[in-house]
Amino acid sequence: MGTTLAQTRPGLHAVRPALRWGLNHALPRGAMTLAARGGDLHSRLVVGIGPDGEDFWRLAEEVRRAGPLPRSRFAHVTASHAVVREVLASPDFRAGVAVGPGGPLGRLAAWAQADAPMGPLSPPSLLVSEPPDHTRYRRLVTRVFSVRAVQDLTERTREIAERLADDLERRSRTEPTLDLVPAYCALLPVTVIAEILGVPAHERDVVLRLGSAAAPSLDLGLSWSRFRAVEAALRDFERWLTHHLEQVRRAPGEDLLSQLVAAQHDDGSGGLTDAELRSTAGLVLAAGFETTVNLLGNGVALLGAHPEQRALLAEEPERWPDAVDEVLRLDPPVLLTGRVATRDTVVAGVPVPGGSVVAALLAAANRDPEVFADPARFDVTRSSARDHVSFSSGRHYCLGAALARMEGHVGLETLHRRFPALAVEAGGRRRPTRILRGYDVLRVSPRAGCVPGAPAR
Ligand code: HEM
Repeated sequence: MGTTLAQTRPGLHAVRPALRWGLNHALPRGAMTLAARGGDLHSRLVVGIGPDGEDFWRLAEEVRRAGPLPRSRFAHVTASHAVVREVLASPDFRAGVAVGPGGPLGRLAAWAQADAPMGPLSPPSLLVSEPPDHTRYRRLVTRVFSVRAVQDLTERTREIAERLADDLERRSRTEPTLDLVPAYCALLPVTVIAEILGVPAHERDVVLRLGSAAAPSLDLGLSWSRFRAVEAALRDFERWLTHHLEQVRRAPGEDLLSQLVAAQHDDGSGGLTDAELRSTAGLVLAAGFETTVNLLGNGVALLGAHPEQRALLAEEPERWPDAVDEVLRLDPPVLLTGRVATRDTVVAGVPVPGGSVVAALLAAANRDPEVFADPARFDVTRSSARDHVSFSSGRHYCLGAALARMEGHVGLETLHRRFPALAVEAGGRRRPTRILRGYDVLRVSPRAGCVPGAPAR
């Protein structure tokens, strides 16, 4: 239907973005805002929380008290560690919470989506693919993002962290307090990602600018002007990536993107398609912008508030990997995810009809007292910290988990070793995002007792 209408009436092209915005942002936001006013738990969680809104942790405990899988107006919702894991692993659920293909609304949505720019939540993104496509595609990508590849990146990440710490040290001579988010927490992961994607040094600024402009694409309820700006940035990024992939094909380097381009199935049936390559690269970039920056910021804030834990880490630096998992457990960069039931099913004794949405509160599962003793306490010696679900679970388990853990370890360890008396100032500001949780502004005084250029450990 879309092609015919668009061909006969070219003006309809302009209608598509407006419809996309309406269906994906304005409509759900309006409906949920109304439901939230009426007390609907899930809607309060999706549109009500934020720096000036409701507190996520209080709402999460309300969900826990309401049972393992309470039903809300638009979705079931769960704070239970066991139920989150069951839903994420179940073949009865799929990822991607878009309007279904059936019915007039579904057809309208499919038409509106036809000329949408590629984004982290649009097919063929891994995040919204399911078996058998997901299995085939993920196997190839996993081979490249292996533990070995992450080990190879560790030394380079250390060098980047040390260089950023040098810059902080220089700046702190004239600026007693500075905002650590742009100066360190964001710069470390984006520099690593630029290396993974083999972005030439002279193009880095352009790509980083496009990446930050496109970053809000995961959020629900964007304003019209923000939505237009995000779509424009996504298109520019796709154009850059298409060109970059051509270069990589012509002259492959040592980077992971070059390896992804070359990756082939064992049976010799080819590798990733162009669309899959662009989508993976886009997702890796988005993940770097949106998540690891939060892990570093949340970690600095937690350690700043718990000097005794920091002192322990200074004495026993081998505890850093566990400390990173404890930060991920207690203050995770991604609060929740969603799944749609593909058929009628039963979870934790609750009937879930096909087509129902389940909101899995990853952050609340991380504080499930059935799994974590005294769950709200920050304890870098907690032996079960790694059981958190901050990287999701099941077949969509984060592809970048090893990379994110390594960056978290190197980033936090380097910072606290170079600035042993780093003080976190009052007035940190959370990002206005709802699904993602991190700091927009985190002012620190690094100067107190900095150790210039200490060797990396
Ligand atoms: C602390 C940092 C990170 C956190 C908390 C995080 C969290 C997550 C979560 C929760 C999911 C699954 C969402 C769902 O089940 O619906 C996911 C998937 C994914 N992440 Fe991460 N992520 C992080 C860093 C990264 C990095 C650095 C990369 C870069 C390689 C990355 C790449 C991906 C990809 C490609 C997927 C899709 C996997 C699939 O659907 O099969 N992530 N991540």
